[in-house]
This record gives sequence, structure tokens and C-alpha cells, in this order.
Amino acid sequence: MASFLINAEVLPAPQTTGGQPLMKVVSERKSSRDFQENQTVTKQDLSNMLWAAWGVTHDGKHTIATAMNRQELVLYVVTPTEVSRYNPEANTLTVVNTGDFRKMAGMQEFAFIAPINIVLAVDTNKQDKPEFQAYTAGAASQNIYLYCAQAGLKTVVRAGFDRDKLPQALKMPANEKILFVQTVGK
Ligand SMILES: Cc1cc2nc3c(=O)[nH]c(=O)nc-3n(C[C@H](O)[C@H](O)[C@H](O)COP(=O)(O)O)c2cc1C
Repeated sequence: MASFLINAEVLPAPQTTGGQPLMKVVSERKSSRDFQENQTVTKQDLSNMLWAAWGVTHDGKHTIATAMNRQELVLYVVTPTEVSRYNPEANTLTVVNTGDFRKMAGMQEFAFIAPINIVLAVDTNKQDKPEFQAYTAGAASQNIYLYCAQAGLKTVVRAGFDRDKLPQALKMPANEKILFVQTVGK
């Protein structure tokens, strides 16, 4: 789609080694809702968490499993100023709409002030089975939780979002479906 080729921002290369020990990070995974206003998440942290969720790792495959390798996950990032779509192969974010759409990305006030809301969506043309779609979004969500736990960031995954308006804000094609939105901040 032509609009995805405009304004692609190359993210910093993800840091794919190091970090805190896995079992410590797993034990510290939790949901937080006490986000502070006017905080930012660095581009490096954003790159790292998107890679943890859906980066390319082996033979063109990803950090998470997908049933029959359908690779149906699609990630959008909602910031206070724009919505972008993640391209894991190029490690880029491409602006698909400008403006503050956080009130559509959540039903709870913390989502309106947090710097990042990651939309976990799927391409239903690639995978039409709801249980497989849910596995994919859930696995990516868990990796975002784990990255946030090890990086000292707060996060919570949510099923609560504006199901009518958020797809419009994302200018989402008809074959894509949003499953969850995950808020990230400090
Ligand atoms: C599928 C799913 C949907 C959720 N939806 C919301 C939500 O809309 N709002 C919210 O505040 N938390 C939501 N949560 C977070 C849960 O409330 C949270 O995971 C649960 O209370 C357990 O807490 P923990 O994550 O800290 O272990 C959701 C979690 C899951 C797995």
C-alpha cells in the first residue's frame, strides 16, 4: 500500500543480547496502570520491545511462533502525535496517520496519557482461525511484558479499546483485525 512507503523512520538497531536474567524477568512480569503524564519511551526501548514482540530471528521467522508459519501479526504504534505501522524486516515505523488517537486506543484514562500504545492486530487473510490469531497476539504481548519488566518500563495489555474508531484511526485495511492494545510507559 503506497501510504506505507511514506515517512518510514528507521529505528535504532534492536539490542538483541544482554539484559537481565530470564527467570528474574519472568518473575517480575506484571500489569501496571499508574502511568505518569509527560513521560517518554526512548526510540531504543521502542525498537527493542517491537523486536521482542515481532522481530525477525531465524530463516525469515520471528521471535514468536505462528501456526503453520502464517506470520499474521501486524503491529501499530500509537504515540501522542501519530500512528505508525511496524515493519520488522526493515526495522522501520511508517506513519499511517497523524494526530493524538490515544482516546481510541483505550477505554481507561491511563491509556490517554501514556507515551506508547501498541496495537496487536492480525492479517485475517493470512490466518482466519480466532484461536491461532489469539495465540499470536498473546505471545507478542508476553514478549512486550517481558521486555518492559527487564527495562524498568510499565505495561498492561488491554481488550478495552474503541472497536469502531481505532481501525479508522489506523487506516486499517479491511482484512486486518485488532485483538488487543498494550500500553507502555513509566
Ligand atoms: C486478554 C486480556 C485482556 C485484558 N484487558 C484489560 C483491560 O482492558 N484493562 C486492564 O486494565 N487490564 C486488562 N488486562 C490485564 C489483566 O487485568 C491482568 O493481566 C490481570 O489482572 C493479572 O495481573 P498481572 O498481569 O499483573 O499478572 C487484560 C489481560 C488480558 C490477558
